[in-house]
Amino acid sequence: MLKLAVLVSGGGTNLQAIIDAIDSGSITNAGISVVISNNPNAYALERAKKHGITALCISPKQFESREAFNQAFLEQLNACQVDLVVLAGFLVVLPEQMIKEYRNRIINIHPSLIPSFCGKGFYGLKVHEAALARGVKLTGATVHFVDEGTDTGPIILQKAVEVAPDDTPETLQRRVMEQAEWVIMPKAIDLIANGKVSVTDGRVRIEEGRNSES
Ligand code: GAR
Repeated sequence: MLKLAVLVSGGGTNLQAIIDAIDSGSITNAGISVVISNNPNAYALERAKKHGITALCISPKQFESREAFNQAFLEQLNACQVDLVVLAGFLVVLPEQMIKEYRNRIINIHPSLIPSFCGKGFYGLKVHEAALARGVKLTGATVHFVDEGTDTGPIILQKAVEVAPDDTPETLQRRVMEQAEWVIMPKAIDLIANGKVSVTDGRVRIEEGRNSES
């Protein structure tokens, strides 16, 4: 059974999609051990508590320096003894030490088709504002492993979503969540939990079978 830590900063709709997929059996062999937020007001914390999942808050604001936060954060995470760390809208830059210790054991959901509209400064609504400003007709979401760069790690799954002519950043964000994020994030977790994902030379291979992309 793969033990998950889900890291959040906001509403937690991706966390909800993971909880629902575990409840419905579309994710197998995995359970959420802990939800960690940097934001004490994140609604995601309520979602966790409602489901009886341990919910913790640890914020850089509680510490005198970034180094002190990084150390405390990593100690807290290590104490949870999880197998996979899931970034579900977590907007804090991860400590480098954590990326090293959890190589290919941290995944992130990004609301665009990487390598478009990603990297430093591209998060949340800003991604959709940029997509609309460029006039793309297709956007989507990406689940990838986390490495030292911003949105540069090995890509696990992607799903495209059409942009509508009258989209606002908010309507596009919602459609990308519904049609892509809430689908591929649970799916990636299920694939990893069932041993179907491997990384070689920075590229992901997904084993064919019950859970494979069709
Ligand atoms: C999601 O759209 C996620 O893709 C995005 O933040 C939102 C969190 O929503 N993440 C990033 O932009 C990371 N670069 P949620 O709290 O409702 O899951």
